[in-house]
Amino acid sequence: MTDTAMSAVNDTMTHPAVSDVPVATDDHARLEARRTLDHLWSAGKSFLGSEMAILGGAMSWVSERHLVSAISNAGGFGVIACGAMEPARLAEEIDATQALTSRPFGVNLITMHPRLDALVDVCLERNVGHIVLAGGVPSGATIRKIRDGGARVIGFAPALGLGKRLVKLGCEALVIEGSEAGGHVGPVSLTVLAQEILPYLKSVPVFVAGGLGRGDAVLSYLELGASGAQLGTRFAASAESIAHPQFKAAFVRANARDAITSVQLDDRFPVIPVRGLANAASRAFMAHQADTLRQFQDGALSREDAQLSIEHFWAGALRRAVIDGDVEHGSVMAGQSVGMVRSIEPVAAILHDLVEQAVDALIQREERTAR
Ligand SMILES: Cc1cc2nc3c(=O)[nH]c(=O)nc-3n(C[C@H](O)[C@H](O)[C@H](O)COP(=O)(O)O)c2cc1C
Repeated sequence: MTDTAMSAVNDTMTHPAVSDVPVATDDHARLEARRTLDHLWSAGKSFLGSEMAILGGAMSWVSERHLVSAISNAGGFGVIACGAMEPARLAEEIDATQALTSRPFGVNLITMHPRLDALVDVCLERNVGHIVLAGGVPSGATIRKIRDGGARVIGFAPALGLGKRLVKLGCEALVIEGSEAGGHVGPVSLTVLAQEILPYLKSVPVFVAGGLGRGDAVLSYLELGASGAQLGTRFAASAESIAHPQFKAAFVRANARDAITSVQLDDRFPVIPVRGLANAASRAFMAHQADTLRQFQDGALSREDAQLSIEHFWAGALRRAVIDGDVEHGSVMAGQSVGMVRSIEPVAAILHDLVEQAVDALIQREERTAR
């Protein structure tokens, strides 16, 4: 017997032969876990028409044709951020996105946009399948118009009561977004919103958002009754995102605690909380409020002018950060999930990891309960 043959025999005494290695069992466990995941988010997947029930949350300046089509092409569901776009500009963006993907994607419209009706028409004329209505409670008339035009409506529910009202008004799915999220945020964390809403709102798919960076966390919300998840921050830092390299580099550097909400100095002058990375602009905003307050108290500014001055502070600031790359004087909107952005990855890799982390978590749980 040659040395090689001898060592092969010894090997089979200590290790099973390749055919005996339970590869098939591992594959089987993975397959089963995938099936479980598919089952858990099936309502979300069939509502969106995508392979994964993961929406790329609309982000002004960031969620344009390239990122949106990349997310949809990789099996997620991209959403164009209309923001302040005029109808003709939105039409151009939808056409360009449709040229880059044949998969479903949505459009996010801000309900207080003065040309909301015309924006809805643009979406319907172009057969956009899903419209997300953000930034306030939409009217029943808008929801009806969208549904009559053949598209599906997704609303934002900041509380259970409002969620139920939106469903009554005709919303066919909801996003519940916790205060961990990037951009404009409500006061309640996703951990609490999920417990307040998911057990009691089962008639439509509910997508969770805010602070999500890993698939095992997404899985835990699916198990609580969510139908899918919406992520923003991780996609903003993806390879396909058109955000300036300095903007993405700031995401890679940041920890969760760096993503803070804007602070209101005085009750008389409300500030809508926006979560973003602390920088020179966020510090200057505090000084600007203090100065404006002083001028109001001295009678140099009317109440209205003082409020306007505070509101105008951030005008153009998101563009400055995202497009120009000025991450010190612009608004670097980011969720607390920014701490989980460790490198700039392609969208497909981000989505792949999210699914595999959920699958791994399901397998580990099976193993724990089998012990
Ligand atoms: C840079 C940035 C811009 C955003 N702009 C919008 C927006 O225009 N409209 C909107 O509905 N949500 C906006 N969001 C929120 C996202 O759609 C999404 O719900 C949120 O990012 C989810 O939380 P995460 O950042 O922790 O993943 C924005 C978020 C970020 C980070």
